[in-house]
Amino acid sequence: MAKVVLITGISSGFGKAISELLSTKEYIVYGFNRKQREDLKGIIKVLQADVTDPGSVQDGITKLVNREGRIDILINNAGMGITGSIEDCSHEDIHLQMNTNFMGYVNMIQAVLPTMRKQVSATIVNISSIGGLMGLPYQGFYAASKFAVEGLSESLRMELIPFHIKVIVIQPGDFLTSFTANRKPVQIEGTDSVYEAQFQKTLSLIEKDEHGGLKPEYLARKLAKILEKKNPGHNYIIATLEQKFAVVLKRILPGSLFSSILSSHYGIK
Ligand SMILES: NC(=O)c1ccc[n+]([C@@H]2O[C@H](COP(=O)([O-])OP(=O)(O)OC[C@H]3O[C@@H](n4cnc5c(N)ncnc54)[C@H](OP(=O)(O)O)[C@@H]3O)[C@@H](O)[C@H]2O)c1
Repeated sequence: MAKVVLITGISSGFGKAISELLSTKEYIVYGFNRKQREDLKGIIKVLQADVTDPGSVQDGITKLVNREGRIDILINNAGMGITGSIEDCSHEDIHLQMNTNFMGYVNMIQAVLPTMRKQVSATIVNISSIGGLMGLPYQGFYAASKFAVEGLSESLRMELIPFHIKVIVIQPGDFLTSFTANRKPVQIEGTDSVYEAQFQKTLSLIEKDEHGGLKPEYLARKLAKILEKKNPGHNYIIATLEQKFAVVLKRILPGSLFSSILSSHYGIK
């Protein structure tokens, strides 16, 4: 029987690539998108929902469950990044970051669980980031949102053992998606922040890494294979060798040494 999969944030990047690939396989693919996008319709069944709005998430889930009666896989993907120094980020920007990347995932998980718990099995996939494994300069709140996803996923995995619901975390490195264009800078040129010069230098290095990043279709293919596994692992880093190596270094090097390597990568002396 075809599995029912629900993916959030399907207008671009990973969400688009994953939903398009899975719809060519044995899945009934539903996508949540906050804007009406006629062009996304086709074999993907698009429902309008803003992940930061629990009411709109619940409405979308109710529609889906009324139609299909079950949700086999949730892929929590919708997200964005703010960038700027921790001192300069406004509470409004921080709230936007945490509300989208963390509460958005929470809203989805809480809405699907009553249905998933009644099934024989189900899977929740949380798209985290390498930024959920190491703090990144001028992306402090983005990293915090993904560290929060990591902690949430570890706890959730244990709580869902009795219900046979698996929790898989994907930690992508740099990918070429609309993430860079959709990023919200909290500091713009011409402001008098003491961080401005360093911020602009680091931001251009962050964007250079992303522009040279892997294609989202690569992650979609990897994830499709992971979903076919009978006993998938808990975490998958999907990244270049260099970025995977950085995660290993973070685990084995003294913190001060790793921090100086990472800050020099981002042009911070
Ligand atoms: N690209 C990378 O290098 C990278 C690396 C590691 C992790 N990630 C993570 O991968 C995920 C997908 O990012 P991406 O790279 O594919 O970026 P993207 O191309 O900008 O796609 C983000 C998607 O999220 C949707 N979205 C944002 N806020 C939303 C909300 N409140 N409600 C519903 N949908 C919302 C966007 O929809 P709209 O069209 O409505 O804006 C868009 O479809 C994110 O969680 C991101 O943190 C990305």
